[in-house]
Amino acid sequence: MYDFRKSVVYQCYFKSFFDSNGDGVGDLGGVTAKLDYLKTLGVDYIWLNPFFPSPQRDNGYDVADYCAVDPRFGTMADFETLSQEAAKRGIRLMLDMVFNHTSTEHEWFQKALAGDKEYEDFYIWREGGADGTPPNNWESKFGGNAWQYVPEKGKWYLHLFDPTQADLNWENPRVRQELQKVIRFWMDKGVKGFRFDVVNLISKGSYKSDDQGDGRRFYTDGPRIHEFLHELSAATFGTDAEIITVGEMSSTSMENCYRYAGADTGELSMVFSFHHLKVDFVGNEKWVLVPFDFLKLKNILFSWQTGMSDHNAWNAVFWCNHDQPRVVSRFGDEGEYWAPSAKMLGTVVHCLRGTPYVYQGEEIGMTNAGFTSLDQYRDVESINHYHILRARGLHEDSVYDILRVHSRDNARTPMQWDASAHGGFTTAEPWISVNPNHTRINAAAQVGDPDSVFTHYQKLIALRKQYDVIAYGDFAPLDQQHPSVLAYTRRLNGEQLVVVNNFYRTETDWTCPVDLDGFTCLLSNYPDSTVQTKLHLRPYESLVLHRAAK
Ligand code: GLC
Repeated sequence: MYDFRKSVVYQCYFKSFFDSNGDGVGDLGGVTAKLDYLKTLGVDYIWLNPFFPSPQRDNGYDVADYCAVDPRFGTMADFETLSQEAAKRGIRLMLDMVFNHTSTEHEWFQKALAGDKEYEDFYIWREGGADGTPPNNWESKFGGNAWQYVPEKGKWYLHLFDPTQADLNWENPRVRQELQKVIRFWMDKGVKGFRFDVVNLISKGSYKSDDQGDGRRFYTDGPRIHEFLHELSAATFGTDAEIITVGEMSSTSMENCYRYAGADTGELSMVFSFHHLKVDFVGNEKWVLVPFDFLKLKNILFSWQTGMSDHNAWNAVFWCNHDQPRVVSRFGDEGEYWAPSAKMLGTVVHCLRGTPYVYQGEEIGMTNAGFTSLDQYRDVESINHYHILRARGLHEDSVYDILRVHSRDNARTPMQWDASAHGGFTTAEPWISVNPNHTRINAAAQVGDPDSVFTHYQKLIALRKQYDVIAYGDFAPLDQQHPSVLAYTRRLNGEQLVVVNNFYRTETDWTCPVDLDGFTCLLSNYPDSTVQTKLHLRPYESLVLHRAAK
């Protein structure tokens, strides 16, 4: 089944998935070893985070060679074995292309540093102020100024992320050709899926200082972005109708996404957007503690559903990835209602119009890491922000409270396979600590248990394949302003789905605006849910109601 609208993608942050060689770090062999688990879950694609040679300053998003495998994670033969074994199970691979920047250890950057003018033009260099100030005031996403000075050159290079992640100069046609070769290299190996990292940042536009902000308005969805994506598609993946692509769109606008992911615009198959996950931020500032804004969450999710649909464009739908905290900790309940809330959140996403992404461990309801000291953190962004927040005068305890909620390491603790030491992830000391709750929350306890979170996800994935209305139906919100219920309907040629979710632990009465005559309950997170127009919803209760075409 390779229609991406009927498919579900599983994100494998393999470094924390399964360690097959006992060195404490997950690897490609570990993914191969667990393919039967993924087949049991029912997913169609595995998105692999970057496994290319890298100094691992940003866990592989600092690529030093796009066409090889980092020896820490295996060999090219291991990649080929994984690809073949996955194919035998009907699963395809999606690779992560980090094309906004390379590691400063990449050969291109090293040549640039050594004075090779051709390679110097692969990156973005500017002169700074006479007083030693950087070329402009743009900020790095990981904190601090976005420019790094190189004394031998007397110039600064741009890095929107870590100083070891130098931004590529997409204005240079040679850069674009080299990146096309990378895609063709992996296409020749049979790869049928690509994810493009922060790809809407590649066209930089102007380099003016930004008196209103951190510079993002100059380079986000920049002036040549559609041209660049169009060209990349036409020269590579666009020639193979079986390939699916997804772009990670940072701080994007919906209007741009109509084009990035339009059915006939010749750019990408779908997009990740993040506005619905900024509902526990203050503006763009994530290093704060505020309760999430439920109405805002609904309004954003629903407006992207209808907007993208009206423009024949396609969303990737998701709560979790390796950059986001765990959703059950964020919008659900880690305590008494852990299982019902984890199931409810899964239902919300999987019945939407779009391709659902499951992030490893989400399908068993894994929670945030709960780290209590800085030496447990591994993520460069978290460690930088620990120091930034301390320097702003925040008390250490408050900083830890913020990291425990927002750190990317919340998602990066090892997959909890069973109740044994290190959660069955490794026989060695893991590169990042395992959550102690692995004794309670683990895959072994859930696979085959009819009431588990895992089984609920398994059913959700199967429903999308079985019911065309889930894959192809139109979307419409229900009772959008309700303060605690998230409900919507999907319709396709007389077939109809009604999805009702109590987003909170308090019980609530809700009257369905749709006539439910002839509906049956396809799925619920309570054993005895019934189809009624006047519903009394229990904590986190979630129902998927369906009526076939008459
Ligand atoms: C994306 C990745 C993230 C990485 C950043 C820079 O947002 O998902 O993990 O740090 O790009 O490559």
